[in-house]
Amino acid sequence: MKGRENPVSENITYTHGNVSLDRRRALLGHGPATVWFTGLSGSGKSTLAFALEAALADRGVVSYVLDGDNIRHALNADLGFSPEDRVENIRRVGEVCKLFTDAGQIVLSAFISPYAADRAAVRDKHPPGGFFEVFVSCSLAECERRDVKGLYQKARSGAIPDFSGVSAPYEIPVCPDLILDTATCSLDLCVTDLLSCLEAAGVLAGSPPVSP
Ligand code: ADX
Repeated sequence: MKGRENPVSENITYTHGNVSLDRRRALLGHGPATVWFTGLSGSGKSTLAFALEAALADRGVVSYVLDGDNIRHALNADLGFSPEDRVENIRRVGEVCKLFTDAGQIVLSAFISPYAADRAAVRDKHPPGGFFEVFVSCSLAECERRDVKGLYQKARSGAIPDFSGVSAPYEIPVCPDLILDTATCSLDLCVTDLLSCLEAAGVLAGSPPVSP
């Protein structure tokens, strides 16, 4: 069994720290948040996440991107693309996001995360208002036209099995916090929408950009 929600050992005790989330907020100057980008491969999740990370840095706010391809190089290097491995991929990443937000940080997560139930489970790990599901909306046709990594061509030829959108499912979010259409919306406009979303939710104080 690759992952567990419940500890194997009964002989462990959870210890809470002494630094409250409010204190962390005061120290950091912003609230905690997980911004969860979901969408097909090639839809623009990573591009948006890294652009938001840079825009936040310009405001003096430190955040960190968890990117599907990157995380699969190490933490999740033992996982493939079967349904059960994708579930475990998102479960582990959800736990990492929870750790980041417990620490008061802003974490930007870019994973296909094709199953609605897995995304909902990650949301449930967070306190209300701490999780933002961002649907990176881009048609399969447009993702295939871009084919940045050449993977759609391989998937169509049968060289890659279980490819999301081609031979594996992608469940479109029913009620995301934000929808960004990367086929019609510029990167700058998408980042502006993301910052507005975080400001409206009180994660950011509406701080103006600072010089890099
Ligand atoms: S997820 O479905 O488990 O959330 P994840 O976001 O970690 O996927 O990884 C997706 C990335 O892995 C894609 O952007 C692509 O570069 C690569 N990849 C390799 N094989 C597949 C596949 N069968 N389906 C989707 N993406 C794949």
